[in-house]
Amino acid sequence: MFIILCCLSSSYSSSSSSGPVNQSNSSRVITHLPGFDGPLPFHLETGYVEVDEGNSVHLFYYFVRSERSPADDAIMLWLTGGPGCSVLTGLAYEIGPLSFDLNDAGELPKLVYRQDSWTKVSSIIFLDSPVGAGFSYSDTEQGYRSSDTKAVNQILIFLRKWFVEHTEFLSNPLYIAGDSYSGMIVPTVASRIARGIEIGSEPSLNLKGYLVGNPVTDSNFDSPSKIPFVHGMGLISDEMFEVLEPLCTFASPHPYKPTVKLNSSVREMLQLQEYTSNAELHLSEISLQCRTAGYLMSRTWANNKSVREALGIHKDKFVTLGRSLYHRKSDNRYVWCRFTRSYSNNLTFTTIKGGGHTAPEYMPRQCFVMFERWISGDAL
Ligand SMILES: *[C@@H]1O[C@H](CO)[C@@H](O)[C@H](O)[C@H]1NC(C)=O
Ligand SMILES: *[C@@H]1O[C@H](CO)[C@@H](O)[C@H](O)[C@H]1NC(C)=O
Ligand SMILES: *[C@@H]1O[C@H](CO)[C@@H](O)[C@H](O)[C@H]1NC(C)=O
Ligand SMILES: *[C@@H]1O[C@H](CO)[C@@H](O)[C@H](O)[C@H]1NC(C)=O
Ligand SMILES: *[C@@H]1O[C@H](CO)[C@@H](O)[C@H](O)[C@H]1NC(C)=O
Repeated sequence: MFIILCCLSSSYSSSSSSGPVNQSNSSRVITHLPGFDGPLPFHLETGYVEVDEGNSVHLFYYFVRSERSPADDAIMLWLTGGPGCSVLTGLAYEIGPLSFDLNDAGELPKLVYRQDSWTKVSSIIFLDSPVGAGFSYSDTEQGYRSSDTKAVNQILIFLRKWFVEHTEFLSNPLYIAGDSYSGMIVPTVASRIARGIEIGSEPSLNLKGYLVGNPVTDSNFDSPSKIPFVHGMGLISDEMFEVLEPLCTFASPHPYKPTVKLNSSVREMLQLQEYTSNAELHLSEISLQCRTAGYLMSRTWANNKSVREALGIHKDKFVTLGRSLYHRKSDNRYVWCRFTRSYSNNLTFTTIKGGGHTAPEYMPRQCFVMFERWISGDAL
């Protein structure tokens, strides 16, 4: 698991203003959620922000205030990858204050409070983006045609409108974050905000940095570089490297050999993901010990009528979480071992040992500590 964290210099300021933002809001504060016992022990708000009036595109968000000192703590926008995963995956499996109770397979999945929530030290906006992901929707087919560029533009509109509605958070340090596919989106959003600050766009956002976990950057290089990397780190043998390296189309100096077939032991060794993304399993068909149980629970939970009512979901929009089911070996035997390197452009690269693809999901405690230090400006 690799994480790249970047702190931007904070010397920007702005003064001029642009026109007022037209608002189409529908936010609500939620004190109780079906599946959670008693009142929520944190401040949750959900809502929609319209980001394309022509197509009536509405992006859905969950906003959790910092459980420490929301007036002073940073505020972070969290985007989930996919592209197209519901941000509920980030909230309930990775960094949010709720998770599914894997010991309870009742009709409606149960939610429990997560101790390692990043909301302990930061307010977080979890955004369903692009349109079509999670509870975000469009009233027209055209509105659903999305791209990375469109997604970035709509996120920027979202942020502008959201902050106009929540001016009390305008001066808090702002961070943009996400993992996996949002490696394509997060730096672009941060860069566009930084440019907006330079030219004095209103509202003026107090952008401080961005964070990406195991990010997609360029598919031509991302996957093929894994083999030279794991070989360089001594994780695979020279013999294995000889077999695999020519398959690394762009990262390899040797001719591509598409005829090489990976047999099961090679796959096992590399822990390649076994995609069964089309599997439609019912909760009763899989063991609760299985990682995928939590994924199925979230689908059942998010599509329950009473849950949708509580969250204030427009229409009968059903959620598929868009996350592939995959098998993976447990990495729990590892102790936390970090490798951290800082660069002169204020970029910090750090690894979480055993972090899997989405590190906070596999190593919640370690990732929380990393985040707490980073958001406080301490050394990792
Ligand atoms: C948004 O703009 C439309 C037309 O431009 C106007 O009718 C509407 O009242 C505005 N909404 C708000 C909340 O300002
Ligand atoms: C929508 O925004 C207005 C201010 O523009 C605010 O007074 C109102 O309470 C908001 N609506 C909801 C449902 O939060
Ligand atoms: C799988 O492939 C590797 C590398 O070519 C080879 O060393 C190994 O014997 C193969 N295993 C099986 C079960 O065929
Ligand atoms: C939805 O949740 C309620 C509890 O809030 C439960 O009684 C109901 O059976 C659930 N509906 C379905 C279709 O599972
Ligand atoms: C790095 O951060 C420091 C402290 O915030 C700042 O003074 C400096 O300008 C930053 N450097 C770059 C290249 O952004």
